[in-house]
Amino acid sequence: MLDLVNESLVEKGEDAIAFDNDCREGICGMCSLVINGIPHGPERRTTVCQLHMRKFADGATITIEPWRAKAFPIVKDLIVDRSAFDRIIQAGGFVSIRTGGVPDANALPIAKDVADVAMDAAACIGCGACVAACKNSSAMLFTSAKASQLNRLPQGRAEKDRRVLLMIGQMDKEGFGSCTNFGECQAACPKGITLDHIAKMHRDYAIASFKNIVGKVL
Ligand code: SF4
Ligand code: FES
Repeated sequence: MLDLVNESLVEKGEDAIAFDNDCREGICGMCSLVINGIPHGPERRTTVCQLHMRKFADGATITIEPWRAKAFPIVKDLIVDRSAFDRIIQAGGFVSIRTGGVPDANALPIAKDVADVAMDAAACIGCGACVAACKNSSAMLFTSAKASQLNRLPQGRAEKDRRVLLMIGQMDKEGFGSCTNFGECQAACPKGITLDHIAKMHRDYAIASFKNIVGKVL
């Protein structure tokens, strides 16, 4: 629909409306738009690019806004800069591995329930709807999903304490607000990321902070 609007604007010699998009199949997280006051629009578990015009009444007026959060500055029109998310991932979101021969795929068995939790967390596409939906502009749902994705697996567990301290530290530095457990993030998330990842990250953070006081994590 935005493409059609833009084509008509360009034909009239006017500026096209700038908006972010990439995959248009709900997997890249680029289409960060608030539709009629709801991040990603009224359809549950659906990104904007998968929100079809047939979901709206004929002749309805649709209001489109960019994400609103201090940590996501507006670049132009409907485009916001979400690189704060990249910096949170960079702060602690990787697993150190030794180079060398490729290990056997079954050398480190992973229990099904552990793999499932990590896989659910990995479904986060980094769109930022959780931040846009939160009255505090908190990035806890995103950060906890990215932490869970690695911290639950045996490969990532070795660096869990360090990772959680660094990611939460970076999240605070970027200017995201605190979590007050309203759950708007979970309701807006197109990938079904749940609040229990936040609870797990709180627990991991408390343990890591204690270890950092009595010993040395960072
Ligand atoms: S947790 Fe959900 S809403 Fe937040 S960035 Fe990830 S996919 Fe988007
Ligand atoms: S454009 Fe990729 S998720 Fe919407």
